[in-house]
Amino acid sequence: MKKQELIYEGKGKKLYATDDKELLISEFKDDLTAFNAQKKGNEKGKGELNCKISTSLFDLLSKEGIKTHLVKTLDSNSQLVKKVKILPIEVVVRNIATGSLTKRLGIKDGTPLPFTLVEFYYKDDALGDPLINDEHALILNLAKNKAELDELRRLGGRINDILKPFFAQRELKLVDFKVEFGVDKDGNILLADEISPDSCRFWDAKTNEKLDKDRFRQGIGEVKVAYEEVLRRILKA
Ligand code: TMP
Ligand code: ASP
Repeated sequence: MKKQELIYEGKGKKLYATDDKELLISEFKDDLTAFNAQKKGNEKGKGELNCKISTSLFDLLSKEGIKTHLVKTLDSNSQLVKKVKILPIEVVVRNIATGSLTKRLGIKDGTPLPFTLVEFYYKDDALGDPLINDEHALILNLAKNKAELDELRRLGGRINDILKPFFAQRELKLVDFKVEFGVDKDGNILLADEISPDSCRFWDAKTNEKLDKDRFRQGIGEVKVAYEEVLRRILKA
């Protein structure tokens, strides 16, 4: 597999073409961004940690029947992935109210939700990734039809049903997370992007200590020590 030109650089990853037109290399960066990239930082080794965490979680989900873009790990901070067309919808799944949900609706931070909430956000930096409903998504042509949106909602819920107990066994509360999906050349919807402490919130089950990117967003402390702890617990038998 030969690494070729850089085809896309996002906030957390770089994507490279390969000599196989169906496959890309996804390289995890050490950069940290928040608040629509107005806040920027960097911690050496963060990319490697996210690559390892995301690979483990994608492998777990794949064993449970979720189709993903991951082909294999290449080295400590890169993965070989299937080329997909990313749907411009961020699927956010929430178990406990925090972050933008508490701000928007005035719910007390840390309130467990009576049921799993799945939300859609329009992936558009210039607009600040606004919350959208199904009709907005269809007007903007972000998905083929209502059935595709229902499928994204179902997949978000299913991923939560797999990950929430997995983390509970490891003394971590899966507070909320964001996932992205892509469509492959045959029209299959695949889980893409990453699942890591950059895109999830993890609270220690006993102390509620934040072990995710909120440490950087809120200036609480280094992220690396926390991400190492998350990886350690994921790898625990
Ligand atoms: P929020 O409370 O800021 O809406 O975030 C909900 C979840 O989605 C949280 O786990 C962080 C994640 N997220 C991202 O991964 N990328 C983003 O751009 C945003 C806004 C949230
Ligand atoms: N939306 C943020 C950014 O633009 C990311 C985040 O807060 O998760 O960097």
